[in-house]
Formats: sequence, C-alpha cells, structure tokens
Amino acid sequence: MASRLPAMRVCILTGGGDCPGLNAVIRAVVRKGERHYGDEVLGSLDGYRGLLDGETVSLDVESMRGTLPRGGTVLGTSRIQPYAVEGGVDKVRRTIHTLGIDAIIAVGGEGTLSCAHELARDGLPIVGVPKTIDNDIGGTELTFGFDTAVQIAVEAIDRLHTTAESHVRVIVVEVMGRHVGHIAAWAGMAAGATMTLIPEEPFDIGAVCESLVRRHERGRYASIVVVAEGAVPRAGTMDIPEKVFDQYGHVRLGGIGAIVADEIERRTGFETRVTTLGHVQRGGTPTAFDRVLSTRFGLAAIDAVHRQAWGQMVALRSGEMVLVPLTDAIANLKVVEAALWDDASQFFA
Ligand code: F6P
Repeated sequence: MASRLPAMRVCILTGGGDCPGLNAVIRAVVRKGERHYGDEVLGSLDGYRGLLDGETVSLDVESMRGTLPRGGTVLGTSRIQPYAVEGGVDKVRRTIHTLGIDAIIAVGGEGTLSCAHELARDGLPIVGVPKTIDNDIGGTELTFGFDTAVQIAVEAIDRLHTTAESHVRVIVVEVMGRHVGHIAAWAGMAAGATMTLIPEEPFDIGAVCESLVRRHERGRYASIVVVAEGAVPRAGTMDIPEKVFDQYGHVRLGGIGAIVADEIERRTGFETRVTTLGHVQRGGTPTAFDRVLSTRFGLAAIDAVHRQAWGQMVALRSGEMVLVPLTDAIANLKVVEAALWDDASQFFA
C-alpha cells in the first residue's frame, strides 16, 4: 500500500571499502522509496565525493534491476570525507540545496558513519547503514558482508587443508580484520584451524611455535594458522616492520601472515607457506544471508528517512531491525566476544 507520508528526494551514498551487499541495500532503498513512498532517489558517486562535487545519478527500480547478486557498488566508493576537504561541509550543503535533496542515506563503516554523525550534528538530514566485512561496528549485532567474507575464507581454508596435509606443511592464512578478529575467529572455527591469531589477543610467537611442535610430535600432522591482518605480537616478543599509512591516514595492513610464517619456519624447522586472502574476501556475490540482511537494512533506512530519524543508524538486534544513535555505532568497536573466543580456543593445536 502506498504511504500517505510526503514523498521525498533522497540521496544514497556508499563510502569506505566496498563490501558484498551494497547494491542490495541501494536496490531496497530505491524499491521501497519509489513504490511505497513515491520518492525520487539519487545516488552520490564515489561516497561523499559526489555530494561534494555535485555529481549524482538518478536511480530507479528499472536501473537497479539485476544488481541484487552483484558485488561491489554501482555508485562507486571512496574514503573522501567533507571534513577533510577545505569548505567541504558548505559544498555538501550547496549540493543539497541545488538538487533539492531532503535526506541522505550514508552506507559505510567506521569512517563513513563517523562523518555521518558529524554531519547530523551540523544539522544535515542524514541516516546511516552499517557496512563492513570486518563486522566491527557497534550498536548492531552484524554488518552485511561479514557472512560472505567468512564463507570465502572457509572455502579457501578447506582447500588449504588438503595441500598442507599432503606435504605435511604449516600454512599460514592471512584474512582481513583491521582492528578486530571476527572473520579470523569465525573462519578459523568453521574450517578447523590449528590456531587463530586476532588483534584482540596479542600473540606470543614462542607459545604458538611450541604448540605446533607438540602437535606435530603426535604424528603426521599438518597445521593451518589463521591470522587476522591486524593481529599483533605481545610487546617485546617479536619484531615487526614500521606501519605504513595510506593517503587517508589508514594504516595499510597486510603482511603479518608472511612475518608469522617466516618466524614459524625459522623457529620450528617445519616447512611453512603463507596465503594472503586479501580483497578476494570483499569481492563477488554476497551470500543469501547477506542479501537478506542488506535488503532489510535498505528497507529500514528508507523508513528511517520518512521518520526523520536524523543521526540514527539502522541496526540488527535479536533478529529485528531497529534504530540506534550513530554515536553508539562509532563509540566503541565491536570486538570478538569472550565466550566465542573461548569456544574457538578449545580446538587450538
Ligand atoms: O575495513 C574493511 C577492510 O576490508 C579491512 O579489513 C581492510 O584492512 C581494509 O578494508 C582494506 O582497505 P583498502 O581496500 O583500502 O586496502
């Protein structure tokens, strides 16, 4: 049934790293916006950049056809943010005024949502949708993209098991997870990893190697060590290279897997290989679970717009779509739950 609420001109953007399910969110916003509320939906190109430069495209049900299973984002994405650009917020205001935009839906992770929070505080009509394969956004039990990334990592680790066993090797698998180890913990547990290293629990390489040696002494054992890209050694236990930053001040991660693999081979003498899954985890089609979650987030976001829930973010809590303040989302990163980590650790080595 069509809504009696006034139709609006809504602009949606996707910011930060891409993630499977972004197109499903956009499609759901467009579908309910157009068919239920009679809205006109625009897409800001490359995240906030489109709002800064006045570059948007018109979106409708027809143009979004076929995008549900497609990875990436039809709008493009970037880490550009209005507060990092001279006069950026005024530029965004000008675009909103010129194009007659009534509301903005910002789909993104930590950086994009922090910016949305500031824009809302500065009086802009904006709501957020949590996105990241890392699953580290507070306020919501899950973010879309996470399930797909775990599935991809599990499929890869299943394959690595057979080659590791044939050669009696140790294989270190580096997965994404900048600040938290949800992907590593879930993929490691689902794929029967020998050991998993996550950022929340700094590791002692000596203890890791001792466990591997004990395991291999028990018979013809191979081992799979899953390492989150943000995993760090316990202070003073191992040297790691200086951090490298990208142009937006983000630490460029990736490489800890190779360092751990070298160290394991050097200390244990076991032939060791490393596989870095990298952006493979972010590409391609979303799982059925992520398609449903993204679709529900998109529908909830357009509803939030019509409730004028500025400064709020859609979230999943106990299976329900709810609204939470963007401050909740950005206040604290969601880390791996102690109980889950305890369960995962029962299977180590
Ligand atoms: O935040 C999501 C994420 O995939 C992280 O896991 C990873 O560290 C980062 O993005 C990679 O970003 P980029 O694509 O800019 O290298």
